[in-house]
Amino acid sequence: MILLYLTLSCLISWTLAAQRSPHHPRADAAYSPPYYPAPNGGWLSEWTSAYEKAQKIVGNMTLAEKVNLTTGTGEFMGPCAGQTGSALRFGIPNLCLHDSPLGIRNSDHNTAFPAGVTVGATFDKDLMYERGVGLGEEARGKGVNVLLGPVVGPTFRKPRGGRGWEGFGADPSLQAIGGAQTIKGMQSTGAISCLKHFIGNEQEMHRETSVLGPGYSSNIDDRTLHEIYLWPFAEGVRAGTGSVMMAYNDVNRSACSQNSLLINGILKDELGFQGFVMTDWLAQMGGVSSALAGLDMAMPGDGLIPLLGDSYWGSELSRSILNGTVPLERLNDMVTRIVATWYQMGQDEDYPLPNFSSNTLDETGPLYPGALISPTGVVNQYVNVEGTHNITANAIARDAITLLKNDNNTLPLSKNASLHVFGTDAGANSDGLNSCSDQGCDNGVLTMGWGSGTSRLPYLVTPQEAIANVTPTATFHISDTFPSGLTPNASSIALVFINADSGENYITVENNPGDRTTTDLYAWHNGDELVEAAAAVFSRVVVIIHTVGPIILENWIDLDPVKAVLIAHLPGQEAGYSLTDILYGDYSPSGHLPYTIPFNESNYPASVSLLNQPFGQIQDDFTEGIYIDYRHFLNANITPRYPFGHGLSYTTFSISDPVLTTVTPLDSAYSPSRTAKGSTPSYPTTIPDPDEVAWPDNFNRIWRYLYPYLDDPDSIVSNSTNSSAAYPYPDGYTTTAHPAPRAGGGQGGNPALFDVAFTLSVLVTNTGSRSGRAVAQLYVELPDTIDADVPSRQLRDFGKTGTLQPGGSETVVLNVTRKDLSVWDVGVQDWRTVVDGEGVGLWVGESLGSLGERDVRAIFGRGWGL
Ligand code: BGC
Repeated sequence: MILLYLTLSCLISWTLAAQRSPHHPRADAAYSPPYYPAPNGGWLSEWTSAYEKAQKIVGNMTLAEKVNLTTGTGEFMGPCAGQTGSALRFGIPNLCLHDSPLGIRNSDHNTAFPAGVTVGATFDKDLMYERGVGLGEEARGKGVNVLLGPVVGPTFRKPRGGRGWEGFGADPSLQAIGGAQTIKGMQSTGAISCLKHFIGNEQEMHRETSVLGPGYSSNIDDRTLHEIYLWPFAEGVRAGTGSVMMAYNDVNRSACSQNSLLINGILKDELGFQGFVMTDWLAQMGGVSSALAGLDMAMPGDGLIPLLGDSYWGSELSRSILNGTVPLERLNDMVTRIVATWYQMGQDEDYPLPNFSSNTLDETGPLYPGALISPTGVVNQYVNVEGTHNITANAIARDAITLLKNDNNTLPLSKNASLHVFGTDAGANSDGLNSCSDQGCDNGVLTMGWGSGTSRLPYLVTPQEAIANVTPTATFHISDTFPSGLTPNASSIALVFINADSGENYITVENNPGDRTTTDLYAWHNGDELVEAAAAVFSRVVVIIHTVGPIILENWIDLDPVKAVLIAHLPGQEAGYSLTDILYGDYSPSGHLPYTIPFNESNYPASVSLLNQPFGQIQDDFTEGIYIDYRHFLNANITPRYPFGHGLSYTTFSISDPVLTTVTPLDSAYSPSRTAKGSTPSYPTTIPDPDEVAWPDNFNRIWRYLYPYLDDPDSIVSNSTNSSAAYPYPDGYTTTAHPAPRAGGGQGGNPALFDVAFTLSVLVTNTGSRSGRAVAQLYVELPDTIDADVPSRQLRDFGKTGTLQPGGSETVVLNVTRKDLSVWDVGVQDWRTVVDGEGVGLWVGESLGSLGERDVRAIFGRGWGL
C-alpha cells in the first residue's frame, strides 16, 4: 500500500524539517578505479540501422580518413568553435561543432533564447522542447552539425559557481527533464546535441589543467554521483543524445577526458551510450591514455599548447595505430560511433555546410584564422535562421518570471500608474548591443551570463523600451545611483531593476573570474542600496531582478515599501515585452524558483564554497553528499527565504481529486535482469598499410592545421617487435571485456528503471479571479525501509496547466518511475527500490514550501487512490 499525501496548493510557510540524521559517505581517499577496455557502440536496437550504414563505410575508410573524423583541425582552423577533418569520399564533410546552449554563438541573424535557468523556471516541458526545436533549426540553418548543448552540469552545487545558469536548475530531475526535452527537440531537426559537461564541473576557477597547473579534482562518492550528478546525464542519454562532452576537471583524481571509469564504465557500459564522447576545448591530456579510456573525439584537436600545430591525436593517433599501441578496434569504434551518429540524425541527407564564421562578422576573411597565412574567401552568408523563434523565446521569458512577493496586490500595474524606473538593468548596454565579446560585461539589462554559453543578441527590447511603449507616464532614471532631491507624489510606484551576473572563467568581469568571487551572492552595482534608497522615498517599490542564480535579498526584502519582487532570470532578446506582459497583467506570472533562496550564504554547507589555492591540485571533496540546495535545507532543518519551486500568481489555485494508479508493480527491490548486449560491428584487425597516412602528392599544407599524415610512416615499427618502445599501459588495462553492468541494458540504464510504477493525476482549479497557469510539482518521500539516508522530499515530476480562466480546471498527470523511488546501492551497483512502494509518500503542491506539515498530511493523507 502506498500512502498518498496531497496538500492544498495554498502557500504556507516553510515547515519541512529534517527527517533523518545526516550520514554522508566521505570521499577521503579519492580514487577512480580503472575500467577497460572501451565498450564498442552499436549494441542497442534504436541505433542498429545507423550502425549498419556506418559499418559499410568505415570498413572502407583509410587510416587517414578514420583519424580525420576523430580529431579537430585545430583552434581557429575553420568557421566553428571546432571542426573535425573530413572523409569526403563518403560524403562526410568537416563536421562543425559549435556553441551555444542558448543560441548560435558569435553569429548573426540568430535567436538569443532565454538561458537554461530561465527555461527551468518555466517548469514547462512543452516550452523546453520547443526551444530545443528552435535551437536545432538554427543550428541546421547555419550548418552546425553538433550544437554544444544542453548543459546539465554544473548543477548549482556551488551557488557562486559561474555557469549554473547554463543548466536548468539545482535539482537532478529538473535538470534531467530540461535536458532531455531540449535534446529531443534539437535532434528532431537533424542537429546533433552535445550533453555537457560530464561531470562535476561545479566551479570555474582552476577548472582546467594547463601549463600553469592541474585543474581541481571533484571528489564524488559513488552514491552521490549516481543520485545527483549523473541523473540528468542518464536522462539525456535515454533521450538519445548523439554526443557528450567531458568536463575539464578531474573526478576522483582522474581527468574526465581520460577517466576510464566515467567514459568506458559509466557512460558507455552502464548508461549504454551509443553516440560519441568529445573533450571540452583543450581538455585532452594524453593521446593513448584518452583513446583507451574511451574518448572518441579530440576538440579542437590541439595538444597542451594550442596553435602550435601539435596534437595528441591527428598524426600521433595514426602513429599509435601503426605501431600497435592503440588497438585498431578502438579507432574503428571511435569512427563508427561518430559516423553512426551522423546517420542516426539523418545528416547524410541534405545537411547544410557552415555558412557563417564565428571568427568575424565580415563577409570575407581568412578561412583558417589560426594559420597566420591562410587562404581567404566568403565566410559569412548572413543566413537568417530566426524564423518565428522569437515567439518561443518570449513565451519562455514570460512564463519563467517568478513572483516572489506581492503585498496588497501591488502587481499588476495599471496602465496609467505613475512610475519611476531605476537602475541600469532596465536599460540598454551604454556601449552598444553586443559590445562585449561573449557578453563579458554587465552593462544594461542582464539577458544572459558570459562565456561560451552565449550568443549575440539580434536585437534587444529593453524593459525601458517596453515600459515606455505601454505607458507614457513613466520617468526613467537609468543609473545605479539614486537621484538626489526626488520627491514623488504619494501614488507613485518605484520599479527598481537590479542584477547579478556570472560566467565562464576565461573572462573576468568586475573582478569576478567566472564565479561570483567578489560580489558574493548580492546584487551587482550597489543594487541593494538602490532598492533601499527607493524604499526611503516611495511607499510602493517593485523590485525586478535579473540573476544567474541564487541572490540574497535580506537588505531590503522586509522593508515595508518593498511590496512586490519579481525574478526575471536571464530572458535573452525578449527581456522587455516578456516583462511588461507580466507587469501589466496581460498574463499572470507562472515561473517557479529552480533553486532555493537562502537568508544567508552561511545557510549552505561549507563544502560548497568556492575553492582557491595557488599551488597543487585543489581537492574539492563533495562531503555534503546528496544534500545540495533544498535537500540540504531540509536535512539541516534550515528555513530558507524562499523555497525551491516557489512562485506566486495573480490568481490562486487548488489541487484536488488525486487519482493514483499502479502501472508497473514494484514487485522486487531491484530491476528484473537486463537483456544481454546485442552485437557490435566488427572489422579486420590487420594493421593498415602505412601509406594510408603518407602525405598525398602535391598536397597544399596549411601551416599549423592538424592533419592525420606522417612524414615517414613506413619507418614505424610495431611495438610488439620493438620491446624498448613498449607503451606503459595504465594500471588495470585489459582487453578482456567487463561483464555487462546489471544497472545497464538500455539507453540511460536498465529499461526497467524507467517503467512508470505509478501515475498520479490531480485536478488543478483556478480559484481566483484572474486567468493564469499553475505548476503541479510532485515530490517523493521514501520510507525508512529504504535503509539509506535520503532527503525527506525529492522532486521527481511536474506538469504545467494551460491558461486556466477563473473557475476553470485541468487534470495534470504525473509519473513516478521505479528509478524515482530508488537509491543507488553502492555494494550491489544497482538501483534499489521499495517493494510495492510500501510506505512511500507522494506530495503534490505548487512549491516545496507549500507541501505542508505533518498535520496537513494527517488530514489528507489516507490512502487516496489505493
Ligand atoms: C566550454 C564549453 C564550450 C567550448 C567550446 C569551453 O571553454 O567549457 O562549454 O562548448 O569551450 O567553445
